Amino acid sequence: MVFECIELSKSYVSRGAEVTALQSVDFTVREQEFVCIVGPSGCGKTTLLKIIAGLIEPTSGKIVFSIPQSNGHLRSAMVFQEQGLFPWMSVQDNVAFGLETQGISLAERRELASDFIVKVGLAGFMHSFPHELSGGMRQRVAILRAFLANPHILLMDEPFGALDSQTRLVMQEELLRIWRDHRKTVIYVTHDIEEAILLGDRLLVMSGRPGRIRQEINIPLERPRHLANRDHPEVAEIRWHIWKMLEDEVRKDLSILS
Ligand SMILES: Nc1ncnc2c1ncn2[C@@H]1O[C@H](COP(=O)(O)OP(=O)(O)O)[C@@H](O)[C@H]1O
Ligand SMILES: [Mg+2]
Repeated sequence: MVFECIELSKSYVSRGAEVTALQSVDFTVREQEFVCIVGPSGCGKTTLLKIIAGLIEPTSGKIVFSIPQSNGHLRSAMVFQEQGLFPWMSVQDNVAFGLETQGISLAERRELASDFIVKVGLAGFMHSFPHELSGGMRQRVAILRAFLANPHILLMDEPFGALDSQTRLVMQEELLRIWRDHRKTVIYVTHDIEEAILLGDRLLVMSGRPGRIRQEINIPLERPRHLANRDHPEVAEIRWHIWKMLEDEVRKDLSILS
């Protein structure tokens, strides 16, 4: 086991009113597991990732980690939807930044980053700056940085959410390929049901606000997975099942009667 969330709740106070973002969230994550969290927007997904990352504290409940915390080795690293790169740094330095906290010299960090960049076929962009790259390429660089940092847990918050659907498909495959080579524990947040099914070993389906885990679903698809899996009848079946679970909440949110 990597960690366990026990009865996690989180409330925010916003303009004098209390908003309960998460309520009694319980789940465990195993070594090298790819866990996807799906749920409607505003259900507390980002809040949950931030608590796991240690960026914010839960209002009640706790997370128990069972991985050793060694010096300089990150427990987790986060990849955001966008704007995760430093605009003033080259691709190489952005990737090398993943190692910044680990007591390695800049020259050595650059060398490790450049090996990594060459390996995924981005050698030609080593010295480019983020504004010279497409959105998909920027996210690729952000993912490389996170993998190079070699954290125990990789936290991804809708990392392909801002990409067009074709680019997203290709990036999903690319992520699976990198993950296959590096085998990290991944917690991947998305509102895209199909994406969650294609990527995850297990899905946690959340309810609308206050966010709770409504159901855990194991994804029985074999690995390695490919784009062609999208047409698999099992995928369609799971997708429909999850959609039926979320549909009412989406309608409620839009005040559309069913
Ligand atoms: N810093 C904050 N202050 C007040 N309310 C917040 C804050 N962050 C998030 N919220 C509220 O908490 C709820 C969950 O937000 P969030 O975790 O971002 O959801 P998701 O990522 O699933 O869209 C939302 O209603 C949001 O408005
Ligand atoms: Mg979010």
